[in-house]
Amino acid sequence: MSNIYPSTHPLVAHKLTRLRDKNTDSRKFRELVREIAVLLIYEATADLALENRKVETPLAAAEGFSLKERVGLVPILRAGLGMVEGAWELLPSAEVWHIGLYRDEKTLKPVEYYNKLPVEPTVSVCLILDPMLATGGSAVATVDVLKRWGVRRIKFVGLIGAPEGIALLQARHPEVPIHLAAIDHRLNENGYILPGLGDAGDRQFGTA
Ligand code: URA
Repeated sequence: MSNIYPSTHPLVAHKLTRLRDKNTDSRKFRELVREIAVLLIYEATADLALENRKVETPLAAAEGFSLKERVGLVPILRAGLGMVEGAWELLPSAEVWHIGLYRDEKTLKPVEYYNKLPVEPTVSVCLILDPMLATGGSAVATVDVLKRWGVRRIKFVGLIGAPEGIALLQARHPEVPIHLAAIDHRLNENGYILPGLGDAGDRQFGTA
């Protein structure tokens, strides 16, 4: 289980349970995705590098810090979008880069349809945001793209992971830490996580 960080925070467990509930409506669902994202991003950024920065308080000079690293948020479209607002609450100057992948319904493999990354990387750390780490195909493909772009540190932040997706991401990119609210039992024959929460995109955007 090295490099896998399931949250043990009681607030995450409480909010995730409400998120799973089939009676939770889209509005509440979006609010919960945002709130859980805040808590997971807090945990996932615990090792960001700092540099020293002096600051004047109203009373005296103080030794302080500022974040040294430029952070990129990479939501996997479309369900990852709902996690951006929460991440921005903690990292307001983070850049958001979109990489569009969809899952082919027959092969369950990711197909890239949108990528406007500039030639040179503009960030040193990327947080990939996707509520569901299901087969792991999209996560692996996104890490592939970010590594080709030249990003040195990449982390995955998701709400629920399936053992299958975790195993694939770990096998292909063992150095990428995986931050999750929970690890579930397995995938069903359609690639959905059991017990999961259903389709995270449909439930956020009211398209179920
Ligand atoms: N995507 C979802 O939205 N839900 C799952 O369970 C798996 C992939």
